[in-house]
Amino acid sequence: MNRKLYIKTYGCQMNVYDSGRMADVLAPLGFVAATRPEDADMIVLNTCHIREKAAEKLFSDLGRLRPLKLRKTRSGGRLVLAVAGCVAQAEGAEILARAPYVDLVLGPQTYHRLPEMMARLEASGTPVLDTEFPPEPKFDSLPDAQALPGVAAFLSVQEGCDKFCTFCVVPYTRGAEFSRPAGAIIAEARRLVAMGAREITLLGQNVNAYHGDGSGGGSWRLGRLIRALAELPGLARLRYTTSHPGDMDDELIAAHRDVPALMPFLHLPVQSGSDRVLQAMNRRHAVADYRATIARLRTARPDLALSSDFIVGFPGETDEDFKATLALARDIGFAQAFSFKYSPRPGTQAAQRDDQLAEEVKAERLAILQELLEKSQSDFNRSCEGRILPVLFERSGRHPGQLVGRSPYLQWVHAPMPADYRGRIVPIRITAAGTNSLAGEIETAAEAMA
Ligand code: SAH
Ligand code: SF4
Ligand code: F3S
Repeated sequence: MNRKLYIKTYGCQMNVYDSGRMADVLAPLGFVAATRPEDADMIVLNTCHIREKAAEKLFSDLGRLRPLKLRKTRSGGRLVLAVAGCVAQAEGAEILARAPYVDLVLGPQTYHRLPEMMARLEASGTPVLDTEFPPEPKFDSLPDAQALPGVAAFLSVQEGCDKFCTFCVVPYTRGAEFSRPAGAIIAEARRLVAMGAREITLLGQNVNAYHGDGSGGGSWRLGRLIRALAELPGLARLRYTTSHPGDMDDELIAAHRDVPALMPFLHLPVQSGSDRVLQAMNRRHAVADYRATIARLRTARPDLALSSDFIVGFPGETDEDFKATLALARDIGFAQAFSFKYSPRPGTQAAQRDDQLAEEVKAERLAILQELLEKSQSDFNRSCEGRILPVLFERSGRHPGQLVGRSPYLQWVHAPMPADYRGRIVPIRITAAGTNSLAGEIETAAEAMA
């Protein structure tokens, strides 16, 4: 009997990956994907706790789902409501207290136990909570991926974080750093490619801290893993995210020089351009170290495009500190970047400081930084006009007869293109650039050469 499953995913790419794996775990119970929550027999909200706003969304969404559940019960049916992910991990029992109509609460490290939880729910009829950090490794208990991954797939290679930046909840919600063995990752990558993936993004909360068991003994770092994956026939592109500046080792930098499949784009969050703030954040590196790492990466791969994350308004951040952040952003010239107002998170060190900044100061600084970053992104995009870039087409565009794909630098590119070019890497002449995407057309001469 088919039952319908609807998963809503908030937060980072690791949650996107986890949502796919939850669907895989539930498939043997007869669950197939629903396109709308209204059709579902089970709804999973896979939540994010990183900033206050992200976490608040859960309760507003739950409020909206409650009548749906009531309607379903009244008509003799049943809707199982599950809260998974990082808010579930952080707030666990509090979710059941605030929203007693929730059936399951499970953390990022326990979703392989979903079938057991469903059985317990069915047997007892009372809500089930499982936010342990279980001793059995989750990845060993997951079934092989079943859903088609699309041409650009995610693959989690590392989870958790031991860095304890003073603003961040991730070490608490995801637990200690853990790296999957290289052999298991290579096997999963091979399956993804067999199902049609041409590009794989290796994921981890701190992915370049990767140190998994190598195939053939010893421990592998990320650079070594990337070299091994690049050998897989049919896999055209590799990326990885998110990295910590302190973990960019020689082997990984060399991979940017030597491995053509490793795309020339790197997301390397810096958070602040002030040493004083970096130290208060416990980022464990100075601004000069970051600049030096970028210089080495650019020597290894001169066309490397860079992305970053910034936090403005960290407790105690002065105008001088903020100016230093602007200077760093200006000097590096990011091709893309994300910036956030500091959000105090329960249980983190920085939230307890008594020098929190006023909301207006944070908002003003964010607006100034975002203007700079946006200009930097537009400049980078415009520098691509007239160039021919290989684009991996992923899906249909907004207009009929159009496909959308990614350039090597992770820019979205749309072009008039036959639908069967999806999954192909095509040389595209870039004809126009906006802040968030590029437009182009097929370069037939170059295609003939390729
Ligand atoms: N592991 C990554 C970041 C994961 S969280 C790293 O080490 O950089 C993604 C981004 O969210 C962070 O880079 C940071 O910029 C932002 N962030 C995390 N906690 C935050 C908080 N309390 N307030 C505002 N932004 C935050
Ligand atoms: Fe959070 Fe990243 Fe710092 Fe880990 S390294 S604590 S995930 S910001
Ligand atoms: Fe959010 Fe958890 Fe990812 S807090 S950013 S979903 S690791």
